[in-house]
Amino acid sequence: ILCPCPTYKQLVSSTLGKEVCYQRIGCFTDDPPWSGVPGRLLTGLPDSPEHMNISFSLYTRETGNNSQVISAINSSTIQKSHFSSRRNTSFIIHGFGSTGRKGWVVEMCLLLLEVENINCIAVDWAQGANGTYISAVNNIRVIGAEVAYFIKTLQKIFRYSPHEIHLIGHSLGAHTAGEAGRRIQGIRRITGLDPAGPYFEGTPPEVRLDPSDADFVDVIHSNHHMCISGLGIYNTTGHLDFYPNGGTVMPGYKTVTSTMVINFVPTDATIIGGCHHSRSHEFYFESILYPTGYLGYPCETYKSFESVNCFPCSQEECPMMGHYADRFPAKLERVNQKYFLNTAADPPFATWRQKVFVKLSGVKKMKGDINLVFHDTEGKTKEYEIASGVLSQDQVYTKYLDVEINPKNTKKIEFLWNKTIFTLLWARLGAETVNIIHGEDGHAKTITNQDKASLLPRCFTRNIV
Ligand SMILES: *[C@@H]1O[C@H](CO)[C@@H](O)[C@H](O)[C@H]1NC(C)=O
Ligand SMILES: *[C@@H]1O[C@H](CO)[C@@H](O)[C@H](O)[C@H]1NC(C)=O
Ligand SMILES: *[C@@H]1O[C@H](CO)[C@@H](O)[C@H](O)[C@H]1NC(C)=O
Ligand SMILES: *[C@@H]1O[C@H](CO)[C@@H](O)[C@H](O)[C@H]1NC(C)=O
Ligand SMILES: *[C@@H]1O[C@H](CO)[C@@H](O)[C@H](O)[C@H]1NC(C)=O
Ligand SMILES: *[C@@H]1O[C@H](CO)[C@@H](O)[C@H](O)[C@H]1NC(C)=O
Ligand SMILES: *[C@@H]1O[C@H](CO)[C@@H](O)[C@H](O)[C@H]1NC(C)=O
Repeated sequence: ILCPCPTYKQLVSSTLGKEVCYQRIGCFTDDPPWSGVPGRLLTGLPDSPEHMNISFSLYTRETGNNSQVISAINSSTIQKSHFSSRRNTSFIIHGFGSTGRKGWVVEMCLLLLEVENINCIAVDWAQGANGTYISAVNNIRVIGAEVAYFIKTLQKIFRYSPHEIHLIGHSLGAHTAGEAGRRIQGIRRITGLDPAGPYFEGTPPEVRLDPSDADFVDVIHSNHHMCISGLGIYNTTGHLDFYPNGGTVMPGYKTVTSTMVINFVPTDATIIGGCHHSRSHEFYFESILYPTGYLGYPCETYKSFESVNCFPCSQEECPMMGHYADRFPAKLERVNQKYFLNTAADPPFATWRQKVFVKLSGVKKMKGDINLVFHDTEGKTKEYEIASGVLSQDQVYTKYLDVEINPKNTKKIEFLWNKTIFTLLWARLGAETVNIIHGEDGHAKTITNQDKASLLPRCFTRNIV
């Protein structure tokens, strides 16, 4: 209603201290902390809701793929829809340069409906997200306010409790969810999928997603902005913060070259740095299907996770990254709890971390390498190197493996060794023992060579010629 005020263009070209007000959702200033604080030296105010044509599309088990557009402005659209106040509700919020009308947002709703009978609302703000990155950063304040207004409307018409609401946001959508949570007390959960870094890293909590925005806030960092072309926030912003593969460059992508960086436009579309950035919603998607394949290990840094520490987990010590993070008993014990894990390079990305010890027998010393091959019940195999170079008898070779096969579906594990031509004279190499510790509960499995018949025939050799 109140927009006989200056136009957006006039506002951005003027100095700080401006304000814009919109019917229903109130006023927005560019006073600190919204502008002019460290990490956030931007200018401008959000566009109007009408300009952005924000929409809420409802997916339920009744609608399937034929969503219903519902609106808090005309709440009879909600009452006439398949929205049910007896179910939980998830809102999925996209990021910069994206859309809520197709693609991952819709796929996520459809998959969630396969496992839970919920109301899933795909929030679209594509027209507020398709200008410059800075305009989108400003616009999420209005989108967050609109999501909050929608929830207030649900409270009013159904006495619907925020405790039945889960907001899932990617990139700028994660901070949008934070803004909605700041305005509504008692949201059950917010999941931030690689919350955007630029203009949010190091800013006051009101401006960005933080643990006070919901009863439980879980975050997946898949591409922080300290690394080249990174778009995500690096610091913790939730109760549980997961850093898959260290949270920077995801496996399966080539390193970005400097020429690519010059042409780089931040977006959550799958281009350049965007590909790591979008991994976070792919991880979330796959975590719905492979809950145990995304176990996070508590650790101070990725480096110590990679080397020696933080393994294994006694029962219930490690949360599952993604959809089932809320099953972790200690989830609310502290804020800023860091968890690390490695994923595979390709979908479904899930891995099961195991620590392997191999003690060799048979020859004193030889050149070559030792590998383990995991076979699953469907005949798929995955091979991992344990050691290579000069191998000696009686030494124990140790390696952490992020195995792409669930231990539950592992039919057999094969021990392979690769010897060089120079060592052909030595007839035999075998494993005295192979020890495997499972990361998910610390249970150990030992294959010994006491019964030579059971171990050695399964070991075979390949020569490098
Ligand atoms: C705005 O959103 C509505 C659905 O809420 C859609 O039908 C319409 O085409 C959109 N308008 C524009 C200009 O994209
Ligand atoms: C949903 O519908 C869109 C087009 O209307 C289609 O492209 C998409 O494949 C459908 N998705 C599913 C899971 O049926
Ligand atoms: C509100 O939505 C209903 C459909 O649910 C429609 O019939 C009605 O015209 C709408 N009212 C306004 C004021 O847009
Ligand atoms: C809503 O979600 C919570 C947490 O996952 C769950 O405990 C509860 O049973 C759900 N409620 C309904 C009605 O499905
Ligand atoms: C954003 O999308 C709207 C509607 O599709 C279009 O009219 C507008 O030109 C787009 N803006 C930019 C900067 O691409
Ligand atoms: C990261 O977060 C912690 C705790 O919220 C804070 O003390 C620290 O200053 C932050 N670091 C950066 C670089 O923002
Ligand atoms: C054996 O060594 C060759 C050359 O280093 C390598 O290509 C091959 O994958 C190795 N095989 C096994 C089973 O390690």
